[in-house]
Order: sequence, then structure tokens, then C-alpha cells
Amino acid sequence: MSSLQAIRYNNSKLELLNQLLLPQQFEFEDCSSCELTFHAIRSMKVRGAPAIAIAAALALACELKQINFNSQKELQQFVFSKLNFLCESRPTAVNLFKMAEDIKNLFEKPTTDNANEFKNHIISFAEKIYSDDIQTNKLIGDFGAKFILQNKLHNLNVLTHCNTGSLATAGYGTALGVVRSLYAQNKLNHVYATETRPYNQGARLTAFELVYEKIPSTLITDSMVSFLMKTKKIDAVLVGADRVASNGDTANKIGTYQIAVAAAYHNIPFYVAAPTTSIDFKIKSGEEIHIEERPKQEVTHIQNIQIAASGIDVWNPSFDITPASLITGIITEHGVKTKNNHGEFQLNDSV
Ligand code: MRU
Repeated sequence: MSSLQAIRYNNSKLELLNQLLLPQQFEFEDCSSCELTFHAIRSMKVRGAPAIAIAAALALACELKQINFNSQKELQQFVFSKLNFLCESRPTAVNLFKMAEDIKNLFEKPTTDNANEFKNHIISFAEKIYSDDIQTNKLIGDFGAKFILQNKLHNLNVLTHCNTGSLATAGYGTALGVVRSLYAQNKLNHVYATETRPYNQGARLTAFELVYEKIPSTLITDSMVSFLMKTKKIDAVLVGADRVASNGDTANKIGTYQIAVAAAYHNIPFYVAAPTTSIDFKIKSGEEIHIEERPKQEVTHIQNIQIAASGIDVWNPSFDITPASLITGIITEHGVKTKNNHGEFQLNDSV
């Protein structure tokens, strides 16, 4: 398994890998407070739906460890205000909001009347979100690989978008976890990774992970996807998710939708790999998903170097919605969900 890690947590200390500096520098920063983690999430020093939620939960745990509370009410006010604050950092990935809701719900049935004992319970709950994530990702990886291998037994060529690996999770990754699983089973011929403009998660982060692990891989620009599909015998597309609606519509990194359109045209199966914490059972379709728009600078500049004409207007939606109709299967830690006879996913709590 990969030893790459974006999150380090130990004895009240949270350190996050500053992914803005990758691949040139590999530097961790102390983020042991909600304030520091909020800014790390907003500036995308830490990014990726699961990693955002984990970092926020652990930042809360770090702060809780420093304080003793006189009453349950005082504890509740503290926890709720910190969670509300953290939830303002980025709007699209649902994992953050689910984590906050799960922690708030603990107050509905406190395990004890003692505020500081209950505080410890909340800390353990937050820490478990972190420790469970790798196991969840391994299940996603193995379920996804097994399913894809039903179509073709070996020498698979796959395409992935954005970064869904160890850097976007506690470790192993979701869509990249499926790639890892295929590779570990000696079934992978090659993985193609898109550059993923404008923030370049593919070129900077996925490429970094693939080279680090010596997985046979090639980087392409986003504009090469259709031609790659036409010329290189791609067997499957694997992407992650920031929020999946109950009908399977999926918000993921900008560019995912056009890859799904191209995959449908070329008859290539298109899979979304994500933990159930990325599924928003409360919303019916992708129309209800708030798409984050990020600073223009991300499009006009690359690492502070201006590449676009001064004065040009810019539209920078950070995510797009891939309609369920273009998705072949949704891979979670419970298995692979496909559509029913009516061509619908119908996701529910048991997925
Ligand atoms: O803006 P980012 O880098 O946080 O976006 C990340 C993605 O879109 C990933 O594909 C998705 O979160 C899955 S991460 C396992």
C-alpha cells in the first residue's frame, strides 16, 4: 500500500501536506486548529472530498483536547459553532457537511452526562472518521477492480481525472484506489491521467502519486481525452465524486462531464468511485448541488505566472454535474451499484 499521506495526526497535533507546493516541495503545515484548517481547506492546501471532511473533524478534535467544559451546553455551543465555521470553507463536497451533521447528532443521545467524558466521545468519533477511511477506500478499490474485470480479464487501460488518491483521502484513494487494486492484481496495463485544468490536480498530484508508486502511467491534457479514447483502447474511465445525488447525478471536478460524454460516444464504461459519505441522499438530482466558483486567478495564472491576457473575463466553476444517464456504475465500499431496468440508480441509505 502507498505510504504517501496528506494528513498526519498525532497527540492533539494535526499536520496537513501543503498540496499547493506539490510536486516541487513536500511540506507539512501545522493545522491543529479550526481556523488554520478552515484556511487550508479554502486555499486548497488540503483538498479532495474525503480529506476535507477528515481534516475538519481532526481540527475540531485537536481543539477539544485543549479545553475542559463546565457543562454539556457549553460543549455543544463550542462544537456547533466550530462545525458551522468549518462548513463555510467549501460548498460542494458533501462529506464535510455529513461529518458535521453526524457529530451534531451525537448531542441528541449523549453517551454520558459528564461534559468532559462526552467530549472524549466526540474526539474518538472524529478520529474514527480518519481511521476508517483507508479501509473504506480499499473496499472501493477491490469492489471496483472485481467489477471491471468481469468485462476484460487483463491488460486494462484506464483513464482517470483529477486526484482521487492518497492525497485526497486518508490514504489509498477512491477512483485511484481502483487503479491501485488493478495494478496490485497485475491486471493494469496503463493508466492515463488528465492534467485537470485549471488547478492541475492531475498533473501535479495524480502524476506525483503514480510516479511515486511506479504505476505505468501517462499524462494527457484535458483536450486530448476524445482522441485518446479513439486511439488507445481505453477499457474504463474511473473518476471520484464530491457529491452524488440520490438519482446518481454526480458533482465532480470540472471536466468530468465532458469525459463522460466522450466515453458514451466511444462506448467506454464510465465509473464513479466514492465512499457513501459522498452520497447526498437528501437531494433528488444534481440540480440541487451548489457548484463552487473559484478565483479567476486559477485560470489566468499557473503558480503565480500569468498565462492569459490581462483584462479577459473568466468563468471558473470548480465542479460540473455528470448526469446519471452517462454513468455505468457507482462504486462504494458496499459494492457496485448499477441501474435498474428503467435505467435508474435509485440510491438509498443501504446503497
Ligand atoms: O477541488 P478538489 O481538488 O477538492 O476536487 C476534488 C475532486 O473533484 C475529486 O475528484 C473528488 O473530490 C474525489 S476525491 C477522492
